[in-house]
Amino acid sequence: MSTYPLASRLSSLQPSATVAITQRARELRAQGIDVLPFSMGEPDFGTPAHICAAASEAITQGATRYTSVGGIPELRASICEASKRRRQVEYDPSQVVVSTGAKHTLFNLSQVLYEPGDEVLIPAPHWVSYPDQVRLAGAEPVVMPTTAEDGFCLRPDQLQQALTERTKALILCSPSNPTGAAYDEGRLRALAEVLRSHRCWIIVDEIYGELVYGDFKQKSIAEVAPELRERIIVVDGVSKTYAMTGWRIGWMLGPVDIARACEKLQGQMTSNPTAVAQHAAIAALSGTQEPVNEMRAAFEARRSLVVEGLNGLDGVACRAPEGAFYAFPSVQGLLGKKSSNGVISDDVALAEFLLEEARCAVVPGTAFGAPGFLRMSYAAHEDTLREGLRRIETALSSLQ
Ligand SMILES: Cc1ncc(COP(=O)(O)O)c(C=O)c1O
Repeated sequence: MSTYPLASRLSSLQPSATVAITQRARELRAQGIDVLPFSMGEPDFGTPAHICAAASEAITQGATRYTSVGGIPELRASICEASKRRRQVEYDPSQVVVSTGAKHTLFNLSQVLYEPGDEVLIPAPHWVSYPDQVRLAGAEPVVMPTTAEDGFCLRPDQLQQALTERTKALILCSPSNPTGAAYDEGRLRALAEVLRSHRCWIIVDEIYGELVYGDFKQKSIAEVAPELRERIIVVDGVSKTYAMTGWRIGWMLGPVDIARACEKLQGQMTSNPTAVAQHAAIAALSGTQEPVNEMRAAFEARRSLVVEGLNGLDGVACRAPEGAFYAFPSVQGLLGKKSSNGVISDDVALAEFLLEEARCAVVPGTAFGAPGFLRMSYAAHEDTLREGLRRIETALSSLQ
C-alpha cells in the first residue's frame, strides 16, 4: 500500500490475463526449463541489416537531438509515399503524426477523441489494449463478439445494432491481433454502407497490413470508402512489417485537425519519437522491401504448418488466418477434461496446463475477450513450431 492513494483512473484498468502466463514462463526459464515461446506478439527475425546500417549512419551524422514533435519531414513524406503504394490513398505530410509506437498513436487518439459518456465499438476478439485505453479516457468500450463462422469479422447488421447516439468511434483491426482475420473489400464496403448514415470516427489499425497470405487481397477502408475519409484514421507502424518492435515507431494518417490535436497532446507527453529510430523507419519504408517479402514467405509457410498441426488435435479447431502471425484455435472441445491436477474448466486453465505440462507458452482467448480460444503465435522457427505441436499433442493426450 502506498502512503497516499493512487489516482482513481487506475482502477478502471483490467489486470492483463497474459501477465500471469508470461510471468510464469519467465520463472520457468529462469530455472533453466525450456519453455517454447508462442505467446509473443513480435517477429522472431532481427531488423534487416540495411535498416540498422541507416540508424548507425544517422547517429554518425548527428541525429541525436530533439526533432519536431510529430516526426521529421522526411519520415512523414516516406510514410505518405508508402501509404500511397499500399492503399492507393494520397495523404499530405501534415496529416501524419509519428509516435513512440502504434500503441502510443492509439493512446493519443483515445485521449483526443473520447470522453465520459462516449461509447467506442470494439469487435472481439480484440487486441488487449483497446478497451483499457477507452476506459482510461473515461469512455465505455462496447465489445461486439464475432464468430469463427463469420471469419471473426463484424457483420453489418451487428454494427447497425450497436451504433447509438453515444457511439464516438469504431475500432477495426485488419488483419487482426489475435485472430489473424482480415476484412476483404466486400466486407469493408458493407460496413462502410452502415457507417455512412452514422457520424462517428472510424479507426483502422493496419499494423499487420503487409503480412497477408495466399490470394487474400489486403484493402483499407480508407481506399474502399473514400466518401468516409474525413472520418477515417489509419494507424500503422514499422514494428511488425520490418521486425522493428523495439525501435518504437508508429503513426496515424487522417484529418489535419486530428493530427494537430495528437501533436498537441504528444508535445506534453513524449515530444518526438526517438530521432535515430525515425531515420531507421525512413530506411525501412523507402529502401528495399525484399526482407519483408522473405519474412512474409516464412510466416506463410509457418501458418500452414501450425493450422494443419492444430487441426490434427482432438478437440481443437482452427481456421486459416488471412494475415498477421497468430493462429486462434477454438479449444472448446477440450474444456471439462481432467488433468492430474484437476478439471480444465476454461481457456485460462488450459493455457496454464500447456505451460506446465507441454512447456509451451500460449495466451488464453479470455485476454482478448474470447473465452474458449487460445492464441498461438507462429513467429517462431519451423523446428520450434513442430516441437511445440508435438509437445502439445502429448500433453493433450494425457487428458481424460
Ligand atoms: C493490433 C496491434 N495494434 C498495435 C500494436 C502496437 O504496436 P507498436 O506499439 O509496437 O507499434 C500491436 C502490437 O502488438 C498490435 O498487435
